[in-house]
Amino acid sequence: MNTQLLNLLLLLVFAHLSSLLLPVYAKVFLSIDCGSLSLIPRTDNHSIVWVGDGPYIQTGESHKVNVPADIPGFDSNVLNTLRAFPSRKKNCYSIDIDNKAENNTRFLVRASFYYGNYDNKSSPPTFYLQFNGNTWSEVATHMDFVDVNEVVFSLKKGNNINVCLAQSQPDNIPFMSSLEVRSLDSDAYNYISSDYPLYFPLRVAYGTNKTIRYPDDSFDRIWVSVGPLNSTSPTMRVRSSSPSINVNIEDKPPEAIFKTALTKSNSSEDLAYRSKSNLEVPFHFNAYFSEVIKLNSTQKRSFDIIVNNERDNSIILPKNPVIPPYGRALEVHIHNVTTFNSSFSIDFRRTDDSTLPSLINALEWFIVGHKLVQGTNSDDVKALGLLQKSFVQLQDSNGDPCLPSPYTWEWVECNSDPDSPRIIALNLNDFGLTGILPDFSAMDALININLSNNNLTQEIPEFLGTFPELTELNLADNNFFGTVPSSISNNVNLMFTATGNPDLLCTPTSICNTVTEPRIIPSPVDKGRSSKTFAQPIIILLIMFSGLLL
Ligand SMILES: *[C@@H]1O[C@H](CO)[C@@H](O)[C@H](O)[C@H]1NC(C)=O
Ligand SMILES: *[C@@H]1O[C@H](CO)[C@@H](O)[C@H](O)[C@H]1NC(C)=O
Ligand SMILES: *[C@@H]1O[C@H](CO)[C@@H](O)[C@H](O)[C@H]1NC(C)=O
Ligand SMILES: *[C@@H]1O[C@H](CO)[C@@H](O)[C@H](O)[C@H]1NC(C)=O
Ligand SMILES: *[C@@H]1O[C@H](CO)[C@@H](O)[C@H](O)[C@H]1NC(C)=O
Ligand SMILES: *[C@@H]1O[C@H](CO)[C@@H](O)[C@H](O)[C@H]1NC(C)=O
Ligand SMILES: *[C@@H]1O[C@H](CO)[C@@H](O)[C@H](O)[C@H]1NC(C)=O
Ligand SMILES: *[C@@H]1O[C@H](CO)[C@@H](O)[C@H](O)[C@H]1NC(C)=O
Ligand SMILES: *[C@@H]1O[C@H](CO)[C@@H](O)[C@H](O)[C@H]1NC(C)=O
Ligand SMILES: *[C@@H]1O[C@H](CO)[C@@H](O)[C@H](O)[C@H]1NC(C)=O
Ligand SMILES: *[C@@H]1O[C@H](CO)[C@@H](O)[C@H](O)[C@H]1NC(C)=O
Repeated sequence: MNTQLLNLLLLLVFAHLSSLLLPVYAKVFLSIDCGSLSLIPRTDNHSIVWVGDGPYIQTGESHKVNVPADIPGFDSNVLNTLRAFPSRKKNCYSIDIDNKAENNTRFLVRASFYYGNYDNKSSPPTFYLQFNGNTWSEVATHMDFVDVNEVVFSLKKGNNINVCLAQSQPDNIPFMSSLEVRSLDSDAYNYISSDYPLYFPLRVAYGTNKTIRYPDDSFDRIWVSVGPLNSTSPTMRVRSSSPSINVNIEDKPPEAIFKTALTKSNSSEDLAYRSKSNLEVPFHFNAYFSEVIKLNSTQKRSFDIIVNNERDNSIILPKNPVIPPYGRALEVHIHNVTTFNSSFSIDFRRTDDSTLPSLINALEWFIVGHKLVQGTNSDDVKALGLLQKSFVQLQDSNGDPCLPSPYTWEWVECNSDPDSPRIIALNLNDFGLTGILPDFSAMDALININLSNNNLTQEIPEFLGTFPELTELNLADNNFFGTVPSSISNNVNLMFTATGNPDLLCTPTSICNTVTEPRIIPSPVDKGRSSKTFAQPIIILLIMFSGLLL
C-alpha cells in the first residue's frame, strides 16, 4: 500500500478520534480553505491543517484561481480556490464553538482574499466583511495581492462565530479565499475591555527575514518580515546570544521573534518609525524587546519611546526608559497614537547614559473597534431557529438575523435597536412552505406576519393571535383547516386575512377577512431601521501601512 495514502488514512482516523475526545472547552484551531470541496484535510508547510468549507456554509459558488508559484507567507494551495457570493444580501460562514466552559473567551479570526482574476473581468471587487452582527471592514481586493483582515474579539458563553460577506457596491461580487479561527489564552490582550474588538493591520518581526507563525506562535499570529533591508539605511539584524528566552508575558509572544532583533550599526543613532495613514482613529502598538548580548559593566542599552516627537503633544513612554532584559521578553504598550496630516511617528531615543543604540524585536499595531453588539434578541433567534428547522427553504439564512443593519435576513424585518434588535415582521409569503408551523410565540415583538401563498396544512394555531403587538396576520392561500381560534377572532387590533384556505370554516365570512377601519399601522420602515444606526466600518487600508523602521 502506498505509504502516503496510509499516512492519510491514519490522519483521518486520528482526526476522527480526537474530535470525539475533545473536552467541551477545547481550544479552537480551525483553518478553512474557502471554495475547496475536498473532504480530506491537508497539512501545509507550517503544520496547519486545512479543511474544505462545505460544513461551514450553505451558499455561494466555488471557483478555481490561478496563483503564481510563490506568494511569500501564503500557501498557494489555499489561495487556488475561493467561494464567491453573487446573490443574497449577506452570506455567512458559521462556526460552532464548544464554548460551554468559559465566558468571554477571546478569539482571533483572520479572513484572506486573493482575487487572481478568477472571473476574467480584471476587476477586483470591494465589499463588506462582518462578524457576529458587527461591521468589520470594507475589503478592497487587489488583482494579485493577498488582502488579510484580522480581528480579535471576545465571545460570550454559548455563542458561535459567524463571518459574513455583503455587497457594498453594485456589481461587486464578494468572495473569500480563507478563514481561520484560533482561540487565545484568557489573558491575551486583556488590557482592552472585552466589549471591544481589536483589528490588527500589521505585526512585524524586525529581526527575521521570513514569516513567523504557527507552530512558533501557538495562537498562529502572523509576524511578517520587513524583507531585505535597505543597504544604504544603517539598520542591521542581530542574533541573540541567549540560548533561550523567557516569553511568559501577558500576550504570550512566540520565542522566535526574540531570537533576532533590529538595531542601528552606528551606536550614536536611534531607531525611528514613521508612517502614513488616512485613518482618523487612535492607534495602539505593542512593542517587544529582548537584549541580544550579555552586557558587561560598562555597557548599557536604554531608550525612551517618543510618540510624535516633532509635535507639541508628543508623549514619552514608558515612565522609566526601556532596558531590554537579556534572556527574557519585555512588552511595552504604546496606546492612543494619533495622526496629524495623515502621519505619525515613534522614536526609540537613547537616554544619555546609553552606550548602545536602541533595539527592537517586534511591533504589533492594532485599532480598537466600535463596541461589540449583543446581537438580535436571543429569544427571537431561538424562535427563528425553530422556523429554520421546520422549513428547508429558510435554512441558508445565516449569521445575525438583524445586524449589522441594513443587512438583515431577506424574510425578516427588525426594529432600530442598534445593539440587540427585535424581529418585528416575518415576510414568509410565497416561500413554498409545506407542513406545519412550529410554536414561535417567543417572538413577542412581532407586528406583522405574512404567511400567505404557502402550503401550510394544519389547524390555525392559537398562539398566532396572542402576539401583543401584532396588527396584521396574513394566512391567505394555504391549506389551513378547522375553525379560526378565539385568540384571533376576539383580537380587535388585528387585521386578519385567511382567504383561499378551502377547508377553513369561515362563518361569517368576515371572520377570515377582517375589514377594519383604516388605521394608522406603524410601518416597519418608519418604526424600523434608520440609516443613522449604521455603524461605519473602520476601513483599514493596508496599503498605507509600512512596517519599515529607519
Ligand atoms: C512546502 O515545502 C516544500 C518542500 O520544502 C516545497 O517544495 C513547497 O514549495 C512548499 N510549499 C509552499 C506552499 O510553500
Ligand atoms: C458572561 O459575561 C457576561 C458579560 O460579560 C455576563 O453578562 C454573563 O452573566 C456572564 N455569564 C456567565 C455564565 O458568567
Ligand atoms: C478565464 O479565461 C481562461 C483562459 O482564457 C479560461 O481558461 C477560463 O475558463 C476563464 N474563466 C472564466 C471564469 O471565464
Ligand atoms: C535569512 O537570514 C539567515 C540568517 O539570519 C541567512 O542565513 C539567510 O541567508 C537569510 N535569507 C535571505 C533570503 O536573506
Ligand atoms: C534607503 O534609505 C535611504 C536613507 O534612509 C533612503 O534615502 C533611500 O530612499 C532608501 N532606499 C530605498 C530603496 O528604500
Ligand atoms: C554615527 O552617527 C553620528 C550621528 O549621526 C555621526 O556624527 C557619525 O559620523 C556616525 N558615525 C559613523 C561611523 O558613521
Ligand atoms: C565590555 O564589552 C565591550 C564590547 O565587547 C568591550 O569593548 C569592553 O572592554 C568591555 N568592558 C569590560 C569592563 O569588560
Ligand atoms: C485612549 O484615549 C481615550 C480617550 O482619550 C481613553 O478613554 C482611553 O482610556 C485611552 N486608552 C488607553 C488604552 O490608554
Ligand atoms: C501636510 O502635508 C502636506 C504634504 O506632505 C504638506 O504640503 C503640508 O504643508 C502639510 N500641512 C501641515 C499643516 O503640516
Ligand atoms: C403578504 O403577501 C402577499 C402575497 O405575496 C402580498 O400580496 C401582500 O401584499 C403581503 N402583505 C403584506 C402586508 O406585506
Ligand atoms: C402541499 O402539502 C400537502 C400535504 O403536506 C402535499 O400533499 C402537497 O403535495 C403539497 N403541495 C405542494 C404544491 O407542495
